Amino acid sequence: MISTVVAAAEFRAFCDLQRAAGRRIGFVPTMGALHDGHLALVRAAKAEADVVVASVFVNPTQFGPNEDFSKYPRDLDGDRAKLASAGCDLVFAPTAAEMYPTNDVTRVRVAPLEQFLCGPIRPGHFEGVATVVSKFFHLVGPATAVFGRKDYQQLAVLRAMVRDLFLPITIVGHPIVREADGLAMSSRNAYLTPTQRHNAQALSQGLRAAQQAFAQGVRGADELAALVTAPIVAVADSIDYVSVADADTLVPISGDVGNRALIAIAARFGGTRLLDNVVLGEDAPL
Ligand code: PAF
Repeated sequence: MISTVVAAAEFRAFCDLQRAAGRRIGFVPTMGALHDGHLALVRAAKAEADVVVASVFVNPTQFGPNEDFSKYPRDLDGDRAKLASAGCDLVFAPTAAEMYPTNDVTRVRVAPLEQFLCGPIRPGHFEGVATVVSKFFHLVGPATAVFGRKDYQQLAVLRAMVRDLFLPITIVGHPIVREADGLAMSSRNAYLTPTQRHNAQALSQGLRAAQQAFAQGVRGADELAALVTAPIVAVADSIDYVSVADADTLVPISGDVGNRALIAIAARFGGTRLLDNVVLGEDAPL
C-alpha cells in the first residue's frame, strides 16, 4: 500500500529528500473522494516529474457555515488505493489540527479575483483555498502542481498567488475530465439523484451550444450567455451565475467577447452546486 504521512514535517522531509536525490516533484492537492478526473491529474503530474505526491485534506477554512464540510465524502483508504493505482508515490493526509494548530493566524487573499463568479456567493472560500494551498506549497518546495480546470477561478487565484509570492511552483491546469455524457467529473456528483444527474448534462450542453455559435462567428456576450443558459434554466433548481468573462482577470465582458473568453457556470441541482466552464477560442470542442 502507498505510504501515507500525516505530519507536515515528515511531508516536507520526504520532498526535500527526493529533490536532494535529483528527482523532480509533481504535486496534486485534493480533498479526497477521488474520481477519474483526479487520477488524470496524478498521471499528468507523473508525466512532468519523477515523484508524485498528493494531499488528501478536506480543508475546513474553504467551507462556509452552511456548506457541506461535515457531509463531504471521505474515504481515505479508497483514495490511497486509487492514488497508488495512478502511480502516486506518497499521500499527505494531515489532520485539521496539523494544518491549523491553535496558534495559526495567517491567511492568504487574492482579493481582486474573489470579486467575481463564486467569490460573492462563497465568502471566504478562496481565502481558505489560497491559505491551505500556500501551506502545502511551502511544505512541498520546488515542484510542479497540477489542478483541474473545472475550478477555473481557483486555478486563476492560485496562479496569481504563486506569481505574487514568488513561490517555486509551476502550475499546470489540466483540461476538465468529463463523463461520457459530458458532465464534468466532480466529487459532488455523488450527491446527485439519478434525475438530477441526468439533468446536469444541461451544463455541458449549454457550453457546447456557445462553443458552436462562437465557431460560427457569434461574438456577443449576451447572445452567448443566453445559449448557455437556455438548456440549464429548463432543468436546474437554480442558477447562481452564467458569466462571460475575461479568461485571465475574470472581469465580466459586455458586448463583443473578442477571440478568447471564459464562460463559467454555477448551478444547483437539488442541494448540489455544480460548476462548469469553457474558454472560447482555446478549449477543444465539447
Ligand atoms: O480543488 C480542491 O480539491 C481544493 O480546493 C484544494 C485545491 C485541494 C484545496 O483544498
